[in-house]
Amino acid sequence: VDGVRLRGYLGAPLMDSFEWLKGYIMGSGLYQVDFTKADRPRTWKYSARYYIDIVKQNGFPAGEDELPLYGHFRDDMMWSTATASFQIEGGWRADGKGLSIWDTFSHTPGKVKNGDTGDVACDSYHRTDEDVRMLQALGVKYYRFSISWSRVLPDGTTAHVNEPGLKYYENLIDKLLQAGIEPQVTLYHWDLPQGLENMGGWQNVIMVEYFTQYADLMFSRLGPKVKRWITFNEPYIVANLGYGYGNFAPDPGVIPYVVAHHLIKSHAEAWHLYNDKYRAAQGGQISITLNADWAEPRNPYKQEDIDQFFLGWFAHPIYIGDYSEIMKTTIRERSLAAGLPKSLPEFTPEEVQRINGTHDYFGLNHYTTKLIFPIDYGLQQNYDADGVGAVDDWSWLDSGSSWLKVTPFGIRRLLNHIKNTYGNPQILITENGVSEKGPVDLNDVVRQHYYNSYINEVLKGADVRGYTAWSLMDNFEWAEGYSERFGLYFVNRSDPKLTRTPKVSVQTFSTIIRCNGFVD
Ligand SMILES: *[C@@H]1O[C@H](CO)[C@@H](O)[C@H](O)[C@H]1NC(C)=O
Ligand SMILES: *[C@@H]1O[C@H](CO)[C@@H](O)[C@H](O)[C@H]1NC(C)=O
Repeated sequence: VDGVRLRGYLGAPLMDSFEWLKGYIMGSGLYQVDFTKADRPRTWKYSARYYIDIVKQNGFPAGEDELPLYGHFRDDMMWSTATASFQIEGGWRADGKGLSIWDTFSHTPGKVKNGDTGDVACDSYHRTDEDVRMLQALGVKYYRFSISWSRVLPDGTTAHVNEPGLKYYENLIDKLLQAGIEPQVTLYHWDLPQGLENMGGWQNVIMVEYFTQYADLMFSRLGPKVKRWITFNEPYIVANLGYGYGNFAPDPGVIPYVVAHHLIKSHAEAWHLYNDKYRAAQGGQISITLNADWAEPRNPYKQEDIDQFFLGWFAHPIYIGDYSEIMKTTIRERSLAAGLPKSLPEFTPEEVQRINGTHDYFGLNHYTTKLIFPIDYGLQQNYDADGVGAVDDWSWLDSGSSWLKVTPFGIRRLLNHIKNTYGNPQILITENGVSEKGPVDLNDVVRQHYYNSYINEVLKGADVRGYTAWSLMDNFEWAEGYSERFGLYFVNRSDPKLTRTPKVSVQTFSTIIRCNGFVD
């Protein structure tokens, strides 16, 4: 292109060798050499394969990864967008709803960044009609929202049912169905009733029973009209970030494993309840939604076990049966080194059988990619550490959230990983989206790029039956409050009317839905 008279190129060096002042620590070769072995075995790295391709083709491999794919999704593709229970709580005082952990959390100074509280959120409680009109403008066929447990059961138990609270959801579901939009309902989106939190939250095994009773009530009252259920949204976050841990902390090292253990059991019991008592009459589907970043090995010639402590923590028991051997062994070793008997709870053989297979699809929330590498934290202090470090590539495009880089390639790799590891399940992407922060610009170019490029990668991927954009409108983003904005619609919080205005990405997303894919 530039007219430089280039006549040759040398990819050096052939193999790892003695690098002068740096000795053997550099490893800059196309082939790895194992200097710990007497016969110095050589193994090719991916970079060697890549170089071989360039040489063979005397130029660049097609790079189909990068190219847009034109084509259509299945005719029954479930296009959806979402919000969470907290965003539909405004007005809770009027209907006598009980407290959830977020009412307490968001009123505790310092817990929510920049001092926001979630009381009013987007006021969807009073704006069902407007919400439905926005969904119609997008052209989605599904709307994913969650029930606020404490709105329908103020103290968390079925001792008292708050009928006006339940009526709100019945009314919303009726309006959606009239508009030709199917409800996709999550039972638990990080909002344990405060009464149950006071009993120890998810650390207390009694929660399995309370959750199942709550699920039973929802299936019997809403099930005739709701055909898509999600038991738990992102149990990983509940287990690791402490939403719903209860007020006592016996041993910070083991809590996440105990909490996760109870979440998995609760999920399985709710699935069996639906399967045994409601499926024949109601004919719906029920599963769990797991979140995962794509874990790209930072060093491509050292493949690590990439997801055992993240996606695999929950996916192994539910899709394959029991915790993975790697997770069991690693945690056992680290516990012993720290002088503890054990830290990963165990399922009995009967429990393994009861939990295995409790899914109707694979619900996946995905946003971004991390580069991962092995790390030795030292066994003494961190017996529960997973031994994996994570960093971002500085060249990846930023968003309004420090943890979220725009990496479309990752969603395709993750979908293929799920396909290959968990028996090629039907996958519903239950969240995917990007945030902005700071000055408002309704021409949200990063989000337009994000939806176009991620959804195109989904088109290239595994057996995907549904796609849900997070989120319908800017809303209360948990510990981040209102500062990070994920919405397709802008919510003006300086305007007492909380006006909603479409961002340009509404066109991007609705065009993809209307075309059911990408037209050249
Ligand atoms: C889990 O269920 C699958 C499918 O029925 C089966 O192939 C697998 O062996 C089960 N796993 C265990 C640990 O029993
Ligand atoms: C938000 O509302 C305020 C008050 O009505 C108005 O001055 C401002 O222009 C609005 N901002 C945007 C981005 O629409």
